[in-house]
Amino acid sequence: MEIVFEDVDYIYQPNTPLEHVALQGLSFTIPSEFFTAIVGRTGSGKSTLLQQLNGLLQPTSGTVTVGDTRLPGAKSKPLKELRRRVGLVFQYPEHQLFEETVKQELLFGPKNFGLDLGQVEAKLPQVLQDVGLDESFLERSPFTLSGGQMKRVALASVLILDSEVLVLDEPTAGLDPVGKKQLLQLFRYLNEEKGKTVVLVTHNMEDAMANADQLVVLNDGCIDSVTSPKHLIEKRDQLEAIGLAAPESIKFVDYMQQTLGVNWNEDEATVDTVSQALIKRIKAGANK
Ligand SMILES: Nc1ncnc2c1ncn2[C@@H]1O[C@H](COP(=O)(O)OP(=O)(O)OP(=O)(O)O)[C@@H](O)[C@H]1O
Ligand SMILES: [Mg+2]
Repeated sequence: MEIVFEDVDYIYQPNTPLEHVALQGLSFTIPSEFFTAIVGRTGSGKSTLLQQLNGLLQPTSGTVTVGDTRLPGAKSKPLKELRRRVGLVFQYPEHQLFEETVKQELLFGPKNFGLDLGQVEAKLPQVLQDVGLDESFLERSPFTLSGGQMKRVALASVLILDSEVLVLDEPTAGLDPVGKKQLLQLFRYLNEEKGKTVVLVTHNMEDAMANADQLVVLNDGCIDSVTSPKHLIEKRDQLEAIGLAAPESIKFVDYMQQTLGVNWNEDEATVDTVSQALIKRIKAGANK
């Protein structure tokens, strides 16, 4: 599902002493079936932007068009339909979880949207497995779980809806490295094999570069740039100027160029491409 932002402003608590302009003049497109990463330093407006995608927050001015639904202005029925089609996993799972057991939590959305509960229950084991939990969690209270387990339950409660668009607000923050890698693989799989449009907020530039088709860089509520991972190398100084660190692999390439005089003419510098290029060069050197 294509998502188009046109000159979007969002103001929290307008016309009050607490008024805060969180988004300003945003215009960009999230193409259907793309994996888009949203990056920007703390407070730059990432979570505010994500909540415009399913109408939880609606533009103060400008429009967000999600598939055939235009915001603001959608009536309650298309808005409810939009919330089923665009699954949003909140940054803080405690904002999303409220039922007594994990099972009730996972069935809440499907019940609310009138899905066939028999079919949904049959999917529970797979969805739990996808997020790295087992069926013993079903009868537990979400509030007795660790932070990472709660995050996984919140994710499962969205995955069970099988939404066309998956919107993920720092879903791997605070998880152990193995769990984080598995979830990123799951998001890639859902995007590449299941055709889901994925929108991921992350502070990890390496993850953004390795997984996304496009990056939307936010700075102080404005778009700094919309770019592809391939162009991050050229943008590293610009990123650092707005408080974002360039990915470590790009720093490594810079270091090799400066200290060893290695000429890097590949257009990307993910961990994988850098490792492969190094192996190729070492082998070529060894064969001389
Ligand atoms: N309910 C609110 N009322 C007033 N201002 C708010 C509210 N929620 C967020 N803000 C402000 O809007 C700005 C954007 O917040 P947002 O949560 O979108 O940032 P973020 O990029 O997601 O940050 P983080 O990386 O810390 O999650 C911040 O300056 C924040 O203080
Ligand atoms: Mg946030």
